[in-house]
Amino acid sequence: MTSPLTAPPAPPPPARKGSRDENPPGIALAALLREDFATHGRKWLEPGFWAVAVHRFGNWRMRIRPRVLRAPFSLLYRFLFTAVDWQWGIHLPYTVKLGRRVRIWYHGGIVIGAHSIGDDVHLRQNTTMGILTREDETSKPTIEDRVDVGAGACILGAVTVGHDAVIGANSVVVKDVAPHATVFGVPARPVNLARRNAALDSS
Ligand SMILES: CC(C)(COP(=O)(O)OP(=O)(O)OC[C@H]1O[C@@H](n2cnc3c(N)ncnc32)[C@H](O)[C@@H]1OP(=O)(O)O)[C@@H](O)C(=O)NCCC(=O)NCCS
Repeated sequence: MTSPLTAPPAPPPPARKGSRDENPPGIALAALLREDFATHGRKWLEPGFWAVAVHRFGNWRMRIRPRVLRAPFSLLYRFLFTAVDWQWGIHLPYTVKLGRRVRIWYHGGIVIGAHSIGDDVHLRQNTTMGILTREDETSKPTIEDRVDVGAGACILGAVTVGHDAVIGANSVVVKDVAPHATVFGVPARPVNLARRNAALDSS
C-alpha cells in the first residue's frame, strides 16, 4: 500500500509565464463567470467570487494579441487584482492555472502561489500556497481536482496534493499527498485510518 505522504517531491513543472489565456477550455468567459457565481452561492458580495472573476479576466485578456490593444485591459486587470488583494487579502495571480468551480470560502490571508489548482477545489481563509525557500522560486504546489483545504493550511514547494485529498486546518504540507488521503499537522501527516476505524468499531 502506498503511503499517503511520499517523499521526495517530484521535480517542479515548468514555471508559467502567463503569456496566454489559461482559463479552462471549452467554455466562454461569460459562462465561466456564471458558473463561478453559482459556485459562490450566487452572492454578489462574496469576495472569493470577485477574486476568481478577476483571475478569469486576467487570463481572458491574454487572447488579445496586439500588446497595444491589450494594454488598457492589462491596466484594468492590475487595478482589480490589487483591489482584491488589498481589500480582501486574496492574492490570486492570473498565472496560476485555475480549474472550474473553485470555491474560495471567506477571505483574509489567502496567498495562492500555486502552479495549478484543479476543478472543484475548496480553499479557505489564511491558506498559503507557494515556494518552500527563496532559493527556488519555481517550486510551487500542484493541487488536483476536488481537494479540500482547511483554514490556515500552508502547502509549500513543488508538492502534488492528489485528487480528493483533505488538508486539515493549520497543516503544513511539504510532501506529496496521495489521492483521497486526509492529512493534518505540522508537518502534515495522514490520519491513521486503521486506528480510527478500530476505535469506531469498538465503540
Ligand atoms: C482534518 C479534518 C478534515 C479531519 O476531520 P475528521 O476526519 O473528521 O477527523 P477527526 O475530527 O475524527 O479527528 C481525528 C483526529 O485528528 C485530530 N485532528 C483533526 N483535525 C486536526 C487538525 N487540523 N490538526 C491537528 N489535529 C487534528 C483530532 O483531534 C483527532 O485526534 P485523536 O484521534 O487523537 O482524537 C478536520 O479536522 C479539519 O481540520 N477540517 C478543516 C475544516 C476547516 O478548515 N474548517 C474551517 C471552516 S471556516
